[in-house]
Amino acid sequence: MTQELRFDGKVVIVTGAGNGLGRSHALMFGARGAKVVVNDLGGGIHGGGQSSSAADKVVAEIKALGGEAVANYDSVEHGDKIVKTALDAFGTVDIVINNAGILRDVSFQKMTTEDWDLIQKVHLKGSFSVTHAAWPIMRDKGYGRVLFTTSGAGIYGNFGQANYSAAKLGIYGLASTLAIEGRSKNIHVNTIAPIAGSRLTETIMPPEMIAALKPESVSPLVGWLCHESCQETSGLFEVGASYFSKLRWERSLGHVFGTNKNISIEDVANKWEKIGDFTDAEHPTTINDTFGVINAAIAHKSLGGNQFIDLDTASSASV
Ligand code: NAI
Repeated sequence: MTQELRFDGKVVIVTGAGNGLGRSHALMFGARGAKVVVNDLGGGIHGGGQSSSAADKVVAEIKALGGEAVANYDSVEHGDKIVKTALDAFGTVDIVINNAGILRDVSFQKMTTEDWDLIQKVHLKGSFSVTHAAWPIMRDKGYGRVLFTTSGAGIYGNFGQANYSAAKLGIYGLASTLAIEGRSKNIHVNTIAPIAGSRLTETIMPPEMIAALKPESVSPLVGWLCHESCQETSGLFEVGASYFSKLRWERSLGHVFGTNKNISIEDVANKWEKIGDFTDAEHPTTINDTFGVINAAIAHKSLGGNQFIDLDTASSASV
């Protein structure tokens, strides 16, 4: 049996830790020996207001369980101030949990620029800002774990959430590049798309569903991904109600017309079924997987227009 996975001596920043998922993550880290910075602006779900009580309550809960924690009330837009709280209280940062969030749901037709900007500021800029302030510290020590929080709305889209979807998928893009940049410094970066009953979801889910979707069933994945023994990086996971799964990209084998041909709209239409045929699909994981197939298409030209890589058979064929 795996021995208890602990975080003794590790300093964790959890943003938006005054409620819901962030609170649950913070309590888990605190119970397993981490020193926790409980960040929360203490505002409403649409981004208005401010209060210290949300963060203070969670700090008190962690301390009551024998853990160590300190509160921070800054908005995640000011990541440097949040990281300063960690440095002043505990001297370093080992783990960053980007979790804080709000909603401004409205159909795209009715969305204002303010609805758009505020969501980008809190979710995308906030995730950037906190991680960017902690990054040099983690690089210097050759250790770090960063977790980002995306959403099914970002991955798949959702009516009334154009602003939120854009920010949340932007977060996944940020995570994918940071996983690459952090790899040589032992900084692992992963992303979760959680489902949990919380203030954000209580207006759109029935009470029995809210009751069944405990934030506490998401936190174990967060803990594992951020543990020093976990080698996972660049992962994207869906998690909620005791369901844990990993997502990946899938790409059809596609079609190469050959670069000696002037490709027409009709050519594309004629090959449409094949372009979207996922039989024998690939699962690209790096940008080189794109250059690989593009180079294969270019190779046709460099071979004088007589040959091309036929992606149907993945073999070099004469034409
Ligand atoms: P919640 O409303 O219970 O908790 C979010 C916390 O973030 C609040 O305590 C709030 O005060 C804080 N916060 C908001 N703006 C802040 C800012 N600028 N700076 C610092 N703190 C701020 O919401 P929940 O459901 O726990 O959401 C946590 C994260 O999970 C969010 O990023 C949300 O988008 C994401 N998420 C949640 C889902 C769910 O089913 N609950 C589904 C998909 C994603």
